[in-house]
Amino acid sequence: MTGRTVIVTGAESGIGAACAKAFGEQRARVAVLYFADSAAAEASAAAVRAGGGEAITVQAHVDDEGAVDAAFAEVESQWGPADVLINSAGLNMSGVTVRAMTLAQWRRLLDTDLTGAFLTSRRFLTGRGEAVGDAAIIHISSIHAYAVRAGGADYCAAKGGLSNLVETMAIEEAPRGIRVNAIEPGMILTPMNARAQRDAQYRQSLEHNIPMGRAGDPAEVADLAVFLASDKARYITGARVVIDGGLSLMQAIGA
Ligand SMILES: NC(=O)c1ccc[n+]([C@@H]2O[C@H](COP(=O)([O-])OP(=O)(O)OC[C@H]3O[C@@H](n4cnc5c(N)ncnc54)[C@H](O)[C@@H]3O)[C@@H](O)[C@H]2O)c1
Repeated sequence: MTGRTVIVTGAESGIGAACAKAFGEQRARVAVLYFADSAAAEASAAAVRAGGGEAITVQAHVDDEGAVDAAFAEVESQWGPADVLINSAGLNMSGVTVRAMTLAQWRRLLDTDLTGAFLTSRRFLTGRGEAVGDAAIIHISSIHAYAVRAGGADYCAAKGGLSNLVETMAIEEAPRGIRVNAIEPGMILTPMNARAQRDAQYRQSLEHNIPMGRAGDPAEVADLAVFLASDKARYITGARVVIDGGLSLMQAIGA
């Protein structure tokens, strides 16, 4: 990854922060795109540099077309077109059933988790122009792309839509050498799962359903992202790779 430019969204927290660090350890140039917390973004950038990579921080809301354009332009002005996009920015499900969900709740989730993926992907692609060469887009999706949950219609719809976005882009961009894949994590210990980290009993009740008996670490997801971005994964495109300790295989409980 030395000299490769990697843009990571949501890079100030959780899986995105772990990805930034992991690509830093591969000596990549990492653009830490963040939502609002500049101190957390600087911490991610410091982790990149500690690993031997280069880092810049750029603020951008992924659901804002102008902000995404400006952020990518800033990265390109320093390092040229990006080689890898890791899209980790996202919001968790509202926890509201469809009959109680407001349009604003629905839109907020879809705008971030699905439209954000479209906007960052499109800008990544247009930034590269018609050039043919090795490049990779990796979206952090979820097992909820297909394993639905009551109260998660907004999130499940966004991640389900993301699957089709990934597969469509995979066939559109394959001739240019751009691979497009999704990672589908199960339960990962990040701020998105804050309750599981402060409430041991709650965490145990969730981990009880995971065949491997434990939640995942963000670094484990980051290792997969590095692999999918690397030449070792050169024939993998349009894939949705599950990383969940076996959780999604347990759908038949009670059947
Ligand atoms: N933690 C899990 O168990 C888990 C499981 C499956 C999938 N995921 C997915 O992994 C991704 C990362 O989640 P995480 O667990 O690291 O959570 P996290 O909350 O730690 O990180 C998400 C980041 O996205 C940023 N963000 C939110 N809205 C944004 C916007 N509009 N523009 C730019 N940035 C925005 C947040 O500020 C935050 O830094 C998400 O897409 C999530 O759906 C997480």
